[in-house]
Amino acid sequence: MENDNKIVSSSQQKALAEQAERELFEKKLAENKKAIETGDFSSFDDEVEAKIEEEAREKKAEEDKAAPPDENAILEVRHLKKFFTLKKSLFGKPLSSLRAVDDVSFIIHPGETLGIVGESGCGKTTMGRTVLKLYHPTAGQVFFEGQDVAGLKEKEMRCLRTKMQIVFQDPYSSLPPRSTVGDILAEPVKVHNIVPKEQIKDYVLELMESCGLRDYYYERYPHEFSGGQRQRICIARALAVKPKFIVCDEPVSALDVSIQAQIINLLKKLQQERGLTYMFISHDLSVVKYISDKIGIMYLGSMVEFGNKAEIFNNPLHPYTEALFSAVPNPNPDEKTEKIVLTGDIPSPANPPKGCKFHTRCPRCKEICKHVAPEYKELEPGHFCACHLYD
Ligand SMILES: Nc1ncnc2c1ncn2[C@@H]1O[C@H](COP(=O)(O)OP(=O)(O)OP(=O)(O)O)[C@@H](O)[C@H]1O
Ligand code: SF4
Ligand SMILES: [Mg+2]
Repeated sequence: MENDNKIVSSSQQKALAEQAERELFEKKLAENKKAIETGDFSSFDDEVEAKIEEEAREKKAEEDKAAPPDENAILEVRHLKKFFTLKKSLFGKPLSSLRAVDDVSFIIHPGETLGIVGESGCGKTTMGRTVLKLYHPTAGQVFFEGQDVAGLKEKEMRCLRTKMQIVFQDPYSSLPPRSTVGDILAEPVKVHNIVPKEQIKDYVLELMESCGLRDYYYERYPHEFSGGQRQRICIARALAVKPKFIVCDEPVSALDVSIQAQIINLLKKLQQERGLTYMFISHDLSVVKYISDKIGIMYLGSMVEFGNKAEIFNNPLHPYTEALFSAVPNPNPDEKTEKIVLTGDIPSPANPPKGCKFHTRCPRCKEICKHVAPEYKELEPGHFCACHLYD
């Protein structure tokens, strides 16, 4: 009996402690709300705010899960996350992680090019690879032609692999040195049964021609070619399996400036001929401006602005976009553009700043920005931005 009393009293104690904790949380929450209303953040609790924000994001992701995929989109990404585990416990539980892609959502329509821009380390490559399921997503949905690929097993992904391809930045390391161009291009055609066996050589030669490669290159090896020619081979290899969507990850950054335009024009020509859709990752804004229909700007794993090219270039809303674009030389010498210099280092995505992730470098930072993350909202039709300037 005495023992029972002890049990009851310890469970009561636990309940009382939980209630006290809840009440304290509610109190802090009310104080935080007041701080946001009054603008006095002296007693603001950042941890409580972070918890509330995380819960709200998860709730939104859960709600959005129920919605059917957009039938006009070739690719629809919803609340995509990719975290890399940095430290694990003895039992394999993640103790700390790096948020390389942190709740990113967007849509690409067939035949469009989405340019993805942002400084080094902001998560462009990780996002491209996660969309293709070369990395397993931590959370979120990726619909390709209406099918959620994020949850598919490797076996189920196999046939989708041909529809979604990638062209890498470095054409030197991405080609097998001991195979001829003909063999490199024929291999995926054979593996995926793209054409009957007896037609493979003709198919490959035709592919080479459309990528600006001479037919006598068929017997040659990658080391015999320049960077530009090798990138043409990489593009031909990606096209060999008749994809619909290609992630181009900095496909011209490793090339001579004189060659870059040729490769960009080749990608444009192939897009028109074959109705391809591209995600074009680059930190070169002039290249992105030339090739893209839509542009997404990333900062520390988050999409901070997204919209049509003209909207983004003529009416940038996010201070980070403004700063990036102010660094692009203006071709009109009569128009004076003020260069916005961003001070401070890029923070680590393993320990991003609280509130707005950009606040440590933002020239227009307000007090609220240091504590509360801005909501990613559609401010004008098709133009999304996450910034407190538009609350
Ligand atoms: N396999 C990995 N394990 C742990 N961290 C990783 C891994 N791959 C990328 N990261 C980290 O994730 C973040 C995003 O990297 P990512 O390569 O996607 O950036 P990026 O925008 O493509 O950069 P860059 O312009 O330099 O190519 C970086 O902080 C990077 O160090
Ligand atoms: S929310 Fe604040 S810190 Fe972040 S970009 Fe906007 S103004 Fe700058
Ligand atoms: Mg990259």
